[in-house]
Amino acid sequence: MDINQRILAELSDLESRAELRHLETPQGIDFSSNDYLGLAADPRMKQAVLNAVTSSSRIASTGSRSLSGHSEVWILLEHDFARWVGTESALYFTSGYAANIGLLSALLQPDDVVFSDSANHASLIDGIRLAKCRRVIFPHLDLNFLEDELRRSVSNAGARVIVVESIFSMEGDRAPLGDLSALAERYAAELIVDEAHAIGVRGLRGSGCVAEAGLSNRVFATVHTCGKALAAAGAFVCGSDNLRRFLINRARTFIFNTGLPPYFASQVAAGMSLAAEAESERARVMELSVFLRNELQSNGFDAAGSDSQIVPVILGSNDAAVTFADCLGTMGFGIRAIRPPTVPAGTARLRLSLTAKHSKEILAELVAAMIQARSENRIARTVSVSR
Ligand SMILES: Cc1ncc(COP(=O)(O)O)c(C=O)c1O
Repeated sequence: MDINQRILAELSDLESRAELRHLETPQGIDFSSNDYLGLAADPRMKQAVLNAVTSSSRIASTGSRSLSGHSEVWILLEHDFARWVGTESALYFTSGYAANIGLLSALLQPDDVVFSDSANHASLIDGIRLAKCRRVIFPHLDLNFLEDELRRSVSNAGARVIVVESIFSMEGDRAPLGDLSALAERYAAELIVDEAHAIGVRGLRGSGCVAEAGLSNRVFATVHTCGKALAAAGAFVCGSDNLRRFLINRARTFIFNTGLPPYFASQVAAGMSLAAEAESERARVMELSVFLRNELQSNGFDAAGSDSQIVPVILGSNDAAVTFADCLGTMGFGIRAIRPPTVPAGTARLRLSLTAKHSKEILAELVAAMIQARSENRIARTVSVSR
């Protein structure tokens, strides 16, 4: 089969499984955005970018930060970010994907064992795959399983590293960071936490779950993406100063990647300071998520273990998820069906992502629309999937 035939065969295979994706501009009331604090359209953000563009001597970085792409603005930004989340140091990457790949592939050696939660984001999975170390994928948040595997690995010559998200992107539940940190200490393992969905949303002044749990100096590294609550892009890897120096020299996605334009540092900085101050937006998102979960559960929907602004509604089959999302689209709600490989087969879902711009009235209308969509499409009343 030549390569073009192979592509066509794969596309038709995806289509037959209701897994073929198309790019679509969001329509209707958006429930797929990660703009948790509602900063993406904030005029103060726009003004910060305009000012920075006007005062920048150039609008392109012109190279990797290892070469011509570096500038003092990044040092200041990294310093401020580390102070915010309570770590010694921070290093800014051009995306969360690049940060996770760069961190994990640089850090892990073939002798090491990595313990990775089964619900971890693709960027963590890919970073671990690139590292070629031994992998233990533990069932989502199954700490007994994890402890058995840690115990089994004590004679291992290399390092042991546990990798989790603090708020899981597709489940909306939270990792028990205190228990994980205690386990890591007991078995001389290191803990790495991806805070993509927690930065700006949880903790004192939005500094994330690790800081909230008082673990900033006990966790080996945290990764904080800036494209969600911070209304920007890129990501910080935070940890010790030695880790920062190591990544500058060893993280390939840092070294072989053109830096973002210097004016962009002002967008990240504005996102950081507005997010830190956004106490009422943080409280509002939490209140809305409790309200939505209660409404969903009392109407027979399975919101899995959600304990955050991310509220999944598990539907099971790909067809059910796509039909449901399409039907809600015709009723004015922009909701995406999340299917494999993003989530395990048989757990296709809607992912409802809440922002401070939503309201209880809108959420009540959404749940009413979901009840209607369920009866029109004869989708089972409650779909509980053992995961
Ligand atoms: C948990 C998690 N980590 C990392 C990333 C990647 O971040 P970015 O979109 O900045 O590449 C995402 C993005 O969705 C994410 O959800």
